[in-house]
Amino acid sequence: MSDRSGRQNVIAGNWKMHKDHLAAARLASEVRAACAGSAATVVVAPPFTALAAVAAELQGSEVALAAQNVSAHGEGAHTGEVAASMLLAHGVRWVIVGHSERRQLYGETDADVAPKVQAALAAGLLPILCVGETLAERDAGRAEQVVADQLRGCCSELTARQSATMCVAYEPVWAIGTGRTATPDDAGAMHRSIRAWWSEQYGPESAEGVPLLYGGSVKPENAAALLSDADIDGALVGGASLDVQDFAAIVSTVG
Ligand code: 13P
Repeated sequence: MSDRSGRQNVIAGNWKMHKDHLAAARLASEVRAACAGSAATVVVAPPFTALAAVAAELQGSEVALAAQNVSAHGEGAHTGEVAASMLLAHGVRWVIVGHSERRQLYGETDADVAPKVQAALAAGLLPILCVGETLAERDAGRAEQVVADQLRGCCSELTARQSATMCVAYEPVWAIGTGRTATPDDAGAMHRSIRAWWSEQYGPESAEGVPLLYGGSVKPENAAALLSDADIDGALVGGASLDVQDFAAIVSTVG
């Protein structure tokens, strides 16, 4: 489950707002069968309403369950929110935080994401923190600065110990759902910049261990090239994770 660097290779499927609990259970069962014995850590993130059904389907398998969001708060008067402890009780192990769709469509800021990271870690969940620049920011030559600012805004409160249980997903906004993928060179360069930031903040050992995933139009056709970069440790897959054959093909590129 780890590459030559000793880092975990993680292939995570973000199902976004697709699949009711019945369809999600069917897909989970297919993923379980198709990804058995994989060299990667395989994670699926169905909608909240499907977590229970998918957890039941995945029981005893190596496929791990993730949620797509978490409340920054513990149980209480927060209509429409879901606490980390509730996710944990469902068998959720990972949680996506700060996805660009939450930032762009629901106005989440780094200041909103930072306490979610803390709430997830406090409950024992493994956060997959999403960062990434817009096309305008890339064109203005600001991509690395934007991502570093997001890391600082979401992670600067972490202890060194917490930093060792994080996972970061670089998802350039312009590559999500567009069919446009970052080149392996561009994605790799950004991953090296993220790892350098991590090293400066938490030291080289933590930086060597943190899995850095790439997300944005990952498909079976481009996964191998992306994952061949030594600093790209896995993928956060949207659209292609809804098709078991495509998802399994991406998983199989880790070996
Ligand atoms: P796509 O793979 O559909 O571009 O989505 C990427 C993503 O947002 C994963 O979180």
